[in-house]
Amino acid sequence: MQLSFAALSLNVAGALVLGVQADGVFTPSAMEADKAAGGALKRAVAASSKFSGKTGQVVEVLAPPGLKASRVLLVGMGKGEDFNGGSAERLAASVVARLYTNGTPAIAFAIDAPKGAKLKPAALAAHLAMGAKLRSYGFTQYRTKARDEYEMTIKTVAIGTRDVPGAKKAWPAMEAVVDSVFLARGLINEPPNVLYPAEFANRAKQLSKLGLKVEVLGEAQMKKLGMGSLLGVGQGSERESQLVVMRWNGARKKDEAPVAFVGKGVCFDSGGLSLKPGASMMGMKGDMGGAAAVTGTMRALAARKAKVNAVGVIGLVENMPDGKAMRPDDVVTSMSGQTIEVLNTDAEGRLVLADALTYTQRKFKPKFVIDLATLTGAIMIALGNDHAGLFSNNDQLSTRLTDAGKAVGEPVWRLPLGDAYDKLIKSKIADMKNIGGPYAGSIVAAQFLQRFVEKGQAWAHLDIAGVAWQDGEQKPLSPGWGVGWGVRTLDRLVADNYEK
Ligand code: BES
Ligand code: MN
Ligand code: ZN
Repeated sequence: MQLSFAALSLNVAGALVLGVQADGVFTPSAMEADKAAGGALKRAVAASSKFSGKTGQVVEVLAPPGLKASRVLLVGMGKGEDFNGGSAERLAASVVARLYTNGTPAIAFAIDAPKGAKLKPAALAAHLAMGAKLRSYGFTQYRTKARDEYEMTIKTVAIGTRDVPGAKKAWPAMEAVVDSVFLARGLINEPPNVLYPAEFANRAKQLSKLGLKVEVLGEAQMKKLGMGSLLGVGQGSERESQLVVMRWNGARKKDEAPVAFVGKGVCFDSGGLSLKPGASMMGMKGDMGGAAAVTGTMRALAARKAKVNAVGVIGLVENMPDGKAMRPDDVVTSMSGQTIEVLNTDAEGRLVLADALTYTQRKFKPKFVIDLATLTGAIMIALGNDHAGLFSNNDQLSTRLTDAGKAVGEPVWRLPLGDAYDKLIKSKIADMKNIGGPYAGSIVAAQFLQRFVEKGQAWAHLDIAGVAWQDGEQKPLSPGWGVGWGVRTLDRLVADNYEK
């Protein structure tokens, strides 16, 4: 799909997209088009009694008289004061979704912001482009048949704007982020026989083309570092565990402390000897969604040459049952020196993160460390599939993450931490156990991670088990399964607070 920005024009072929704001008020470009069509557009709106210009509503007019376009889509934009970048993204995405496979090769947006909106023309255009592109994603490489049923037929999307230079200036950084979301989605969608730890590490290595420094540690090196917790998880797998370290040094001050992201990369989670039932195992190829988000974020920072020092560390393992596998009752020693009684091998993500967190903090002394993980089923009981769970020892970092998430349409919700929860992981024989009781499973997991947060270190944990992939209802900007959740939030967090 080819995206371009051009002067706002009604003289276009293909599908012409126009905006109508709340109460059916036509925006200037829509007014003009209606005039050219001899009032046909207003007649069409009047004939659809339910159309009132609310967001999400569409009236489609085929072969409109007086216009070159093969069809006009009149899309609702709602109230001007509520219309923002996210609204523009969802609007463009809904148009792409509607025309995805119907054979329309060209879409031209000729959208004016509704009256009262704060969005400038350049930002409006760039956000329309972002929404259109995010929704154009497809994961089709494993289809050899019936491709036309799934493959997008849209070839070009032209964004008409009253500020072409401004839009063209804003777009490259945004496109870098979209491409990085696509990278994360692809990693999540890949089947686990293809994307095992070493293959994931290979794909991360390819990012060195963008200027990232990528280092891969194998099992021997991790053993030397004392990572008994992470290695315990991969012990039952035929595939070698890997720790990938990605660095981007873009800060003006070369020795500025980096921001750090740590991701859970369980390429497949069978549960290990605490084996999951078959139905719960389906989808566990996506248990590396945290690592995918970190990898995507690092790609985005490099691709848009962010003025920040950043490090991304992902722990890549496969959790499998086998004669060599870790047993429930085993005690492992983590890199931090703390011992862990493993009572359930399916609570493996925290074991991987423990060592990845220790390594990251000791090696890089970061400004903050944020970990992302598809950590607990319980977070879906608490928050469903809309918000990610946020846990943190730092109010400023929490606020910044919450704001960033809200700005890009990836909301997060903070949950508590506290001694009463920490008690739940006391072990009879080791420093801690890896599970608690039946309640507050997501908080217990976060308490476990907090035991690996070093003194004075600002830390946040995002439990993304409910948002990393989607089976049922699709998010407006995300077709298919892997969402790529987190790339936009983390990129925005950095852009808004840590680039100087
Ligand atoms: N990867 C799972 C969490 C998960 C479940 C993610 C469903 C996405 C969808 C994690 O490793 C896990 O198995 N957690 C257990 C923890 C329990 C054994 C304490 C869980 O949530 O059941
Ligand atoms: Mn598990
Ligand atoms: Zn898991």
